[in-house]
Amino acid sequence: MDGSSKPETTAPGRIIDWGNGPRDLEAVAEEIRERGYAVLRNAFPTECLERMFASRDWWFRAPAAGGAPGYCKFDYEKRVVQTSLLGRDSLRILLDEDILDLIERYTGHEVVLSESFTKLDRSVDYVYFPPHSDYMPDYRPSSHFDKIRATAEDMKHPLGLSYVLYHHDTTAGAFCYCAGSHKLGAHRGCQVTDYPEDERRAIMSTWTRLDGRKGDIVVFDPRGFHGQDQPSAANRYVTISRFWRTDIFGYHQARPLPVYTMDLAGLSERQLSVLGIGAQSLTPLEFDHHAGFKKRRRAYAIVTKLIEHAYDLDYAKKRLQPLRSRLRRLLRPGTGAKVLPPAAPVEGKRGG
Ligand SMILES: [Fe+2]
Repeated sequence: MDGSSKPETTAPGRIIDWGNGPRDLEAVAEEIRERGYAVLRNAFPTECLERMFASRDWWFRAPAAGGAPGYCKFDYEKRVVQTSLLGRDSLRILLDEDILDLIERYTGHEVVLSESFTKLDRSVDYVYFPPHSDYMPDYRPSSHFDKIRATAEDMKHPLGLSYVLYHHDTTAGAFCYCAGSHKLGAHRGCQVTDYPEDERRAIMSTWTRLDGRKGDIVVFDPRGFHGQDQPSAANRYVTISRFWRTDIFGYHQARPLPVYTMDLAGLSERQLSVLGIGAQSLTPLEFDHHAGFKKRRRAYAIVTKLIEHAYDLDYAKKRLQPLRSRLRRLLRPGTGAKVLPPAAPVEGKRGG
């Protein structure tokens, strides 16, 4: 497996239905401890998901430009929107109390939402999301905060939990995980290509494609090797959310997380805390590649120029308006300058 070919997949894991009866958090946590992931069905109310997906359609209709909301574009393969912008329902889903309970049970600590984005992955005939681990010994999430890091000792325990939410029935392009690989501690690095052939083979032998239905989530330990079924014959919409422990990473988020304040209504103190109210971003906004287009691209310069000058014609019309009004008055009979009738012929001058 060199990162460019498609690995064989093992049998998918079982689906845990959360739609009926009491939710057994410990059973799910145990599944994740064992395999590194768990697939949950009916974790969120259908009507919440539908409203979130409708909002997604609105956000993805065009790229953000000139202050108009839209998706971010920073490469060919993806279109991205921060999930927290997709309306009140997206926050309800993102901060679902049962999911937070599960995360805290699995990690044993309080967590904060590190980041969450919703993206469209386009179908291309190459691999751009190769197998990787999100963490490794001495992992530093930000070059701007040198002291924040996860040590080799930290790697022996869960550092957080992430999940992928499928926006539609997903097979091609589904999330994949190397079952059990979270126990390896990513001792040679985050990329599977960093490992010698025999280790790489052993890791990739458990590569599992996790197909799912619309609304399913794959909760996973991001210390394990994961990625996407690629090359993929289909586009896919997913939401990817990452939560991490505050006792390791502090009350920090990976990048600035925007939100409309009207959508915060009804959130509990715990949900607001996990959302990151008052937290610090590890990535200054100006360095956040998710925040927008690559500004050095020529297209960016052209588009920004077009937007900057989009109202120039309106301005010119407004400036010309007084002149046009004056001209109109001048040319309209009976207004403006008086048009005198022709002078009567002078018959002769009389002396007085
Ligand atoms: Fe990842």
